[in-house]
Amino acid sequence: QLVSLIGAPTDIGAGAKGSRMGPEALRVADFAATLESHGLQVEDRGNLAGPANPWQPPDGGYRHLQQVVEWNRLVHEAVLAELRLGRLPILMGGDHCLGLGSISAVARHCREAGKKLRVLWLDAHADFNTNELTPSGNIHGMPVACLCGYGPKELIEIGGQVPAVNPKWIRQIGIRSVDPGEKRFVHQVGLEVFDMRYIDEMGMRHTMELALATMDDNTHLHVSFDVDFLDADIAPGVGTTVPGGPTYREAQLCMEMIADTGRLASLDVMEINPALDVRNRTAILAVDMIESLFGKSTLMRR
Ligand code: ARG
Ligand code: MN
Ligand code: MN
Ligand code: MN
Repeated sequence: QLVSLIGAPTDIGAGAKGSRMGPEALRVADFAATLESHGLQVEDRGNLAGPANPWQPPDGGYRHLQQVVEWNRLVHEAVLAELRLGRLPILMGGDHCLGLGSISAVARHCREAGKKLRVLWLDAHADFNTNELTPSGNIHGMPVACLCGYGPKELIEIGGQVPAVNPKWIRQIGIRSVDPGEKRFVHQVGLEVFDMRYIDEMGMRHTMELALATMDDNTHLHVSFDVDFLDADIAPGVGTTVPGGPTYREAQLCMEMIADTGRLASLDVMEINPALDVRNRTAILAVDMIESLFGKSTLMRR
């Protein structure tokens, strides 16, 4: 398995500065070497070079729209190039607004290759705001809506087709913070959401069985992992922590069940904010989780 790491050092879409250091925190946590220890061949492509964060208030309901567009174009091109080489791209964010550039590239690749797409969005948040619904103007709260065709023209067109993704291809897991207007919009569009209440009541195993159901050999599985998915007690290094997320064991099971499908073909690791972290533990935990995602087994079972 050929894996490419792509660093996107920016917090252009976030409400806190610091996730620009996320790629370096993952490197310091020995991300590449750890993946290689599991038999993957890893190339670190280094960091993309996009515009600086001007740290401005919202304009028309968006903060830094032009810079967000530029960063997403860079991410889109970089991810698409790796997919066309037959490699598995891992986007190291950076804030989650870049999920748009990444997943739109994956969707384009699937169109070219005649593959079906399944997106797992692991997050505390639905990231389904628009400029009218957003309480913050932070575009990291909007990428799923943009992928589904709801957003500014310059952003939604990055994938070469609008919408880039059909909402039916998306499963959201771990959701526990959704803004009021955003919640109505999620229901209106019919997004499939496994929120924390669902996980509490039905368990992670049943949740993942449903989220991973109806894939076949022709399905490309993309995982967009916002590290605030994890419970804030174990993953403090994120700008938008929300209590009550999956425990260490629940998150491990989630990752292991994804690995068991053998379908993982691209990944985003987003929102790690070393400026808010404690001794890099959130990046170290993310690397640990991603080992499981690539099939590291802690079980006696072979
Ligand atoms: N819903 C909030 C907003 O839109 C928070 C979004 C957080 N998103 C994230 N990718 N961390 O401002
Ligand atoms: Mn491919
Ligand atoms: Mn989030
Ligand atoms: Mn997110």
